[in-house]
Amino acid sequence: MNKKHLFNVVANLLIVGGAFALSACCGNCCKNEGAAPAAATEQAVDSSAIVLEAISNRTSIRAYQETPVEDWKVEKILRAGMAAPSAMNRQPWSFTVVNDKAILKQIADSAPNAGMAAGAPLAIVVCGDMDKAPEGDVKEFWVQDASAATENILLAAHALGLGAVWTGAYPNVAKAKMLAGILNIPENQTVLCVIPMGYPAESPAPKDKWNEGNVHYNVWK
Ligand SMILES: Cc1cc2nc3c(=O)[nH]c(=O)nc-3n(C[C@H](O)[C@H](O)[C@H](O)COP(=O)(O)O)c2cc1C
Repeated sequence: MNKKHLFNVVANLLIVGGAFALSACCGNCCKNEGAAPAAATEQAVDSSAIVLEAISNRTSIRAYQETPVEDWKVEKILRAGMAAPSAMNRQPWSFTVVNDKAILKQIADSAPNAGMAAGAPLAIVVCGDMDKAPEGDVKEFWVQDASAATENILLAAHALGLGAVWTGAYPNVAKAKMLAGILNIPENQTVLCVIPMGYPAESPAPKDKWNEGNVHYNVWK
């Protein structure tokens, strides 16, 4: 499998349904609609290793090169975000792409936790869309939905050779409103986070977070 083919497999996996969509195909390798589930094939074993590698090696990147991020990469990243699962498939999200340096600086100056935005060529602001969020006491599912989209974006950025970091806004309502004000985001949108991204100018080691103590089987002992 050459590099381009590997890349297509990863990109397609991210686009069609997030990190665990192992039924994705590369366009050339599984044209047969009636084929056995991908997980049963050697191809899928290769693909799953690539996906799991991306999940394990993604790490927050807070320093970026000036090189702009190509539009086609931005679209792939947005597609990955929108491929996330959401409660009742409401897809209650919106994404604001910021590549204006003056606005990135304004975000960084106003939200110190997103200070790295000043040195980023790009940031994606993820919002929850309250008009699409579920009604009633499950409305807050929007947070999980938009968070799933955010994680997909981080993974897609990593897979495409970029670095990114999730910087939080909601549930800090004042911060969410302040960021919305900078970007003229309408009131029915709640800013969940800002994701500055770009080609990495640092290479921190991924953290090994495996902790057996976090795992329980059946009834807790
Ligand atoms: C909800 C949430 C909010 C976060 N907010 C910030 C932030 O404001 N600034 C920041 O630099 N990193 C922020 N992070 C990134 C975390 O610090 C980072 O994910 C964590 O330290 C683990 O490191 P890793 O992403 O490299 O695995 C946030 C992450 C999450 C999930």
